[in-house]
Amino acid sequence: MNLVLSEAEGSDGAASPYLPKPATIEKITIENEVKDLKTFRLVFCNEEDEKRFEYECGQFAMLSVPGAGESPIGIASSPLDEGYLEFTVKRYPTGVVTTALHNLEEGARMGVRGPYGNTYPMEEMAGKNVVIVSGGFAFTTLRSSIRYMLAEKNRSRFENITVIYGARSPGELLYKSELKEWEERDDIDMYVTVDKGDENWKGREGFVPTVLTEVAPSSENAIVLVCGPPIMLRFTMVPLVELGFSPGRIITSLERRMSCGIGKCGRCNVGSKYVCKDGPVFSYKQVQELPEGGF
Ligand SMILES: Cc1cc2nc3c(=O)[nH]c(=O)nc-3n(C[C@H](O)[C@H](O)[C@H](O)COP(=O)(O)OP(=O)(O)OC[C@H]3O[C@@H](n4cnc5c(N)ncnc54)[C@H](O)[C@@H]3O)c2cc1C
Ligand code: FES
Repeated sequence: MNLVLSEAEGSDGAASPYLPKPATIEKITIENEVKDLKTFRLVFCNEEDEKRFEYECGQFAMLSVPGAGESPIGIASSPLDEGYLEFTVKRYPTGVVTTALHNLEEGARMGVRGPYGNTYPMEEMAGKNVVIVSGGFAFTTLRSSIRYMLAEKNRSRFENITVIYGARSPGELLYKSELKEWEERDDIDMYVTVDKGDENWKGREGFVPTVLTEVAPSSENAIVLVCGPPIMLRFTMVPLVELGFSPGRIITSLERRMSCGIGKCGRCNVGSKYVCKDGPVFSYKQVQELPEGGF
């Protein structure tokens, strides 16, 4: 869907659901050595748009660059972060929108519509141990959840928080300074791993499913959120189930090609489910019941 702001009004003049709201890029953080992962901090140009954009952890927005189109991107900031939104975007060499986004500079204007999709089950997670397992840049919406749970007003609502997060190499780890801060806290257990370290890396080496097996978090009164590339997800489900996590307590987020983002166009359906509306958050039990039956 290739929208520019002025094209997006309904025929009756009412605001169309496809109307992107203008936002300014306040800050860009280059996250990795290869420079194909950037975090964009956006501030809505109109206060009303900011007030209306009430989101929860796990949701996504459609980000647009006029003339290039729009893409669904998970919200990486926490709902408690006031005054801005953050999105971490991977640029694909042939990706039209992600390349256009990466070419923008601080101060540039772009479009945001949303928030869309369902959310991580934060209310169900309250009072439980929370395990987070992630690999690669799919960590973005889990970062939102960690920020949310660690916020002073929320931390006591959740029991133990264990995070197992991996990247291919030390240079590919996202949110490096935040990871360090979390590692220094005593109310969250961090296990950061890389597939292969370099001469400066003093941390853990190993694939996420292997580290998960070594750490063996208890499934007692626990919910696990797991996001990553399909191959990591496939190899992670086996140890999780062996550790006693029932498929209903394994929560993941699916990615599918999308167009409207609001359940109208049918682009993202898997069987009778629309990933944009019924998801993107699904339990492993629900994923197993989908026609594709897995990742
Ligand atoms: C709910 C949801 C949340 C998402 N959250 C994020 C996020 O937080 N950060 C993020 O960077 N992306 C996220 N994505 C993926 C993102 O939407 C796509 O990468 C983006 O739409 C690609 O747009 P493009 O115009 O740059 O690529 P296109 O021009 O549409 O595609 C060009 C080529 O790029 C490659 N490509 C595009 N997308 C992918 C992909 N997902 N995997 C592998 N190769 C691909 C393919 O080779 C494709 O042929 C999310 C997707 C969904 C559905
Ligand atoms: S993207 Fe249109 S129905 Fe999901």
